[in-house]
Amino acid sequence: MERLNVSLCGINLDNPVIPASGTFGYGYEFAELYDINILGTLSFKGTTKGPRFGNPTPRIAECTSGMINSVGLQNPGVDKVISEELPKLKKCFDKKVMANVSGFSIDDYVYTCERLDDIDEIGWLEVNISCPNVHGGGMSFGTDPKAAASVTKAVKSAVKKPVIIKLTPNVTDIVSIAKACEDEGADGLSLINTMMGMRINLKTKKPVIANKMGGFSGPAIFPVALRMVYQVYEAVNIPIIGMGGIASAEDVVEMMLAGATACEIGAMNLVDPMICKKIIEDLPEVMDKYGIKNLESIIGGAHNG
Ligand code: FUM
Repeated sequence: MERLNVSLCGINLDNPVIPASGTFGYGYEFAELYDINILGTLSFKGTTKGPRFGNPTPRIAECTSGMINSVGLQNPGVDKVISEELPKLKKCFDKKVMANVSGFSIDDYVYTCERLDDIDEIGWLEVNISCPNVHGGGMSFGTDPKAAASVTKAVKSAVKKPVIIKLTPNVTDIVSIAKACEDEGADGLSLINTMMGMRINLKTKKPVIANKMGGFSGPAIFPVALRMVYQVYEAVNIPIIGMGGIASAEDVVEMMLAGATACEIGAMNLVDPMICKKIIEDLPEVMDKYGIKNLESIIGGAHNG
């Protein structure tokens, strides 16, 4: 249905709905539930240079309207992602996929991005400088404009595919980080990753999560994500993927009015594995209800006038 089409860094998406990294595995797991070719694309599990076992358990804490995770970038490493995970995805997904990359040094990011840049099925490199659950990498690059700029510059000079930098909300001024990435050639931005949070178990009187703190996501953070997308849209001229608590087709429309070109759906995949399909199916009716002819025309629409 053409009225749902959007263009993300020069690649056409049938619709703006993208399952977020870390909530959709490598995609093929969900192909048992529905035809994942209906998605705009998907962002696969955060991938690092070497394999990672992840953080000690418990890694998850439930919250009102959301959850906290401290997975710690568990993944098999880029070699196995290329040799084992992507061939499985290729059997059930005909579209370009988004590769999500994490690292602990600039060299890590460059190495992993270069490896994935050679893979035909990958359309975009989503560079995650916002994981709150690891020490010495991840979010430490995303909380300082200079560090964010350095990662962006190094990756951009090493790859050909569009580079989308994934930003953290755990900063006082996300606009300065977004602009620093744009200035070094980022092709797009995705925001927001999770917000730092914690829970304490009243029986043990200790933090619920073994790592004490983690990343809070889910519908509770939607207004914060929307505000940050709105602010960043005013400051940059590159596409934004909006994410953070999106749970419905209405939320997608709202996020696009704030300035998102596409939307990632994260925590809600863990509540309802069919949520992305449902949102795609609901979009035409919601568009009709609000007099929207096509989605591309509403991007940033809340800024006009
Ligand atoms: O802990 C994790 O793997 C989370 C990653 C992220 O939020 O970027």
